[in-house]
Amino acid sequence: MTVPGTTAQQPTESTADALLRPHAEDAFADELTALALADDRQRPVGWRLSPWAVATYLLGGTLPDGTVITPKYVGPRRIVEVAVTTLATDRALLLLGVPGTAKTWVSEHLAAAVSGDSTLLVQGTAGTPEEAIRYGWNYARLLAHGPSRDALVPSPVMRAMSDGMTARVEELTRIPADVQDSLITILSEKTLPVPELGQEVQAVRGFNLIATANDRDRGVNDLSSALRRRFNTVVLPLPATPEAEVGIVSRRVDQLGRALDLPGGPEGIDEIRRVVTVFRELRDGVTTDGRTKLKSPSGALSTAEAISVVTNGLALAAHFGDGVLRPGDVAAGILGAVVRDPAADRVIWQEYVETVVRERDGWKDFYRACREVSA
Ligand SMILES: Nc1ncnc2c1ncn2[C@@H]1O[C@H](COP(=O)(O)OP(=O)(O)O)[C@@H](O)[C@H]1O
Ligand SMILES: [Mg+2]
Repeated sequence: MTVPGTTAQQPTESTADALLRPHAEDAFADELTALALADDRQRPVGWRLSPWAVATYLLGGTLPDGTVITPKYVGPRRIVEVAVTTLATDRALLLLGVPGTAKTWVSEHLAAAVSGDSTLLVQGTAGTPEEAIRYGWNYARLLAHGPSRDALVPSPVMRAMSDGMTARVEELTRIPADVQDSLITILSEKTLPVPELGQEVQAVRGFNLIATANDRDRGVNDLSSALRRRFNTVVLPLPATPEAEVGIVSRRVDQLGRALDLPGGPEGIDEIRRVVTVFRELRDGVTTDGRTKLKSPSGALSTAEAISVVTNGLALAAHFGDGVLRPGDVAAGILGAVVRDPAADRVIWQEYVETVVRERDGWKDFYRACREVSA
């Protein structure tokens, strides 16, 4: 019997469509397959694609058969080329940058393109234990049968080593220094000793590791120089121009909006441009025309935050407005992103609203909306 309104399975919907956030290798499976077919260049041992095809997957392009590869990362081509090339050497890759510069995003897509699997992931925190990087034990088995291969629980890094895949470590510098250092043997000797068993796991060709670290965390748990030497560092910059940043935001908002069934459309582009302008001016500490110096608030005001301000605004417009993104839909989000420290940031924001927003042609509605949410 079927209960009205419930169907056991929606046959038209694949599992990937039903997931809130499919992995890159699933979301872009079609592009990865098309690239693999078109790719006649040499692939490093253990790689799904050649370095050229991996770079094309990240930067976008059109294949000879007409398949369009969407750009995932928008930024200098050389950065992507250096990152991909590093993964084909015996050095690991460290993506460094301020928050919201797509470090995690690039790391996920690189792993998806190189190994077809972006899930061998260790999330770095102040509490990350050594077992998360090396291995742990299944205590029931350990007590019942003593230490054995069966009782060992491999970490994502260990699995990547034995399978010749890409491992990922997020927020490396948040991990305590002594735990970080367990990566040294892995990256220099390409082996992970298991002294309890008198064994080791040696890395198979194709294994490498991508770490991300936040510029602003510098000094928290700085990388030891021994570990740093095992990495090639690639710094991801903030978008160079307002146009580039508007492009990144609108493309990503479009994708996220579709996943949330929000109405898209080109009407919102003015509002996106405005959010990006406000963020860039406050970040840079000067207005676009270079005339007025501004104080910068404490928040990062990253591209990623602009994306979330616009996506939230779109949801407001969809559920409580007429579906078109308006100044009132983004003003509260901007305020929330700018005012992190309620005392100092609020003064900076109010000064910006009264001296810049108020005077600017075509920004009257936005000025009113800002006044309303600040009140
Ligand atoms: N240069 C860029 N190209 C493409 N997307 C970007 C870029 N900068 C930021 N983004 C977007 O910002 C979002 C957040 O990035 P994320 O990888 O979480 O940042 P980080 O790890 O550096 O803090 C991603 O959804 C990504 O699409
Ligand atoms: Mg990140």
